[in-house]
Amino acid sequence: MKNIINKKNIDTTKQPLFFGEDLNLQRYDKYRYKKIFDLFLHQMSFYWRPEEIDLGGKEKTDFISLTDHEKFIFTKNLSYQILLDSVQGRGIGHLLNDCSNPELEAYCKAWEFFETIHSYSYTYIIKNVYANPSEVFDEILTDKEVLKRTTSVTKYYDDLINSVNEKDVNNKKKKLYLTLVSINILEGIRFYVSFACAYAMAQNKKMEGNAKIISLINRDENLHLAFTQTVLKYLKDNKDEGFKHIVKECEETVIKMYEDAAKEEMEWAAYLFKDGSILGLNETILVQYMKHLTNKRMRAIGTKPLFPDTPNPINWIQNWTESKRVQNAPQETEIESYKIGSFDQDMGKMDVDGFNF
Ligand SMILES: [Fe+2]
Ligand SMILES: [Fe+2]
Repeated sequence: MKNIINKKNIDTTKQPLFFGEDLNLQRYDKYRYKKIFDLFLHQMSFYWRPEEIDLGGKEKTDFISLTDHEKFIFTKNLSYQILLDSVQGRGIGHLLNDCSNPELEAYCKAWEFFETIHSYSYTYIIKNVYANPSEVFDEILTDKEVLKRTTSVTKYYDDLINSVNEKDVNNKKKKLYLTLVSINILEGIRFYVSFACAYAMAQNKKMEGNAKIISLINRDENLHLAFTQTVLKYLKDNKDEGFKHIVKECEETVIKMYEDAAKEEMEWAAYLFKDGSILGLNETILVQYMKHLTNKRMRAIGTKPLFPDTPNPINWIQNWTESKRVQNAPQETEIESYKIGSFDQDMGKMDVDGFNF
């Protein structure tokens, strides 16, 4: 039986991340993994609200002046992002069922809240630029191309959620591990076709408020990616975590998961650009970008990359995707009069070196 508070005086610095003793107090005076606690502080310092970005005036006129295929690309990308963040905003709590590390618990609580901010941001964007916002939401789960990818995004969470009463710890570990990999793919690959489209529009001086919100979401997703990369590495390398055999056993499945995700995202790019492209971006560029990102994400968790070496074909995208640039470049968009608290904070002192964004 599990207890909400374990009354035993457990030293959690000696416990694994998962499947150790039940947690006792939420205390952060000593850590097994200080890096995870730093990521928690980092996430907290990023606090933002979509209302800080003005979507009136120019944003509305921009939207009206988009061509039909640009409107299609814009709306479909938002639709897919709404699905992804709905999954994350609801799913993360399930990672904690067998958590035995307080800093990981803290990080996940903050993480989940930020995913809910992301979901709310999409509603904020949609309410501001569409005449009939409900129509946009109502159509998301009727789109065959969105539905096609829903299963691979949700499958591992569903397996994990349904394993609560499972007796075999190894089976539970396997389901948790594959869910973490699936999240790593979501945070590090699946968002990026949509992100690239939003930034390409802003590079052309269109929908810049939207791109600003997306870049704030992107900054959070970078951090989430850093977290999953870190945890996957601990599970792979630290014998005490008790996952080494699981990691080995799942090797082929993991490669297949990256392969499927890359393929699905490339198909998504084809769908988006079926009637026309955005200046500076097209299907061929996005396919190459997906190969580049997939290789990068696989390398970061110690897996051999799937594709031959592929350089990043979108040289300007780092202006938007790299968190430091995001913090330094608010003047590039229409929001120069806005000052977001977290832009001013010095993040350099924290122990987040070596994360592969
Ligand atoms: Fe998110
Ligand atoms: Fe995320």
